[in-house]
Amino acid sequence: MKAVFIGDVVGNLGCEALAALLPQIKREYGADIAVVNGENSAEGNGIDARSAEAIFAAGADVITGGNHSFRKHSVEEMYERCNTLLRPANFGEDVPGNGVCEVDMGAYSVAVVNLIGTAFMTPVDNPFKCAEDILKTIISRVIIVDFHAEATSEKRAMGFFLSGKVSAVIGTHTHVQTADEQIIDGTAYLTDAGMTGPRDSILGVEKNVIIEKFRTYYPKRHVYADGDADICGTVLEIDQKSGRALSIERFCKTYKKTK
Ligand code: FE2
Repeated sequence: MKAVFIGDVVGNLGCEALAALLPQIKREYGADIAVVNGENSAEGNGIDARSAEAIFAAGADVITGGNHSFRKHSVEEMYERCNTLLRPANFGEDVPGNGVCEVDMGAYSVAVVNLIGTAFMTPVDNPFKCAEDILKTIISRVIIVDFHAEATSEKRAMGFFLSGKVSAVIGTHTHVQTADEQIIDGTAYLTDAGMTGPRDSILGVEKNVIIEKFRTYYPKRHVYADGDADICGTVLEIDQKSGRALSIERFCKTYKKTK
């Protein structure tokens, strides 16, 4: 089977680019399932019901989250009713939603696990111990993990920790695609899938806002940039019987904004 994994969708432009290109990307790679990180897909920040619906309408089968998963209250009701809209599992059980789902594909199923790192991020439950617990409950052979984390070291540690136990560990959150894709003992690994959002930006945000923040340390409201967009991600080929990854390929496509 083949899975497409798309890195952090940013704002309206990211949703627009996804709607325009995801169907074509799924066709091009013959993808059976698409997993999309959507934690920054709402305009301003976070994910809301509108942006989550837009990502599903574009062709995502599962949406994953991160540190901005609970910024917008409008999405909380959706976490409860939609089991393919995930938030990191290691936020624990006292907040809305789930961090794991298993998608029935007919002859087999695909589990998607969403975890968040703790290095340079808000400390939540330990993602490594959480992963161990989750793996005891999963039935699917094919297991795709979105590890939403800041530190490259923590992401690589998770890749090695879960190698041989899951089909893929794909990093999100830093919005810059890394070039370290590899297969570790049957587990496809990539430190960061990259961003789906405005190219002429700093991680999706209007670049002059960020430059001025660094230059003056004066707080400024983040505004998403506009223009052409990148749509970055990776395609995974996985043996559905064993769950072992056969190949991993990165891609970064351009969405030309027409108006
Ligand atoms: Fe994030």
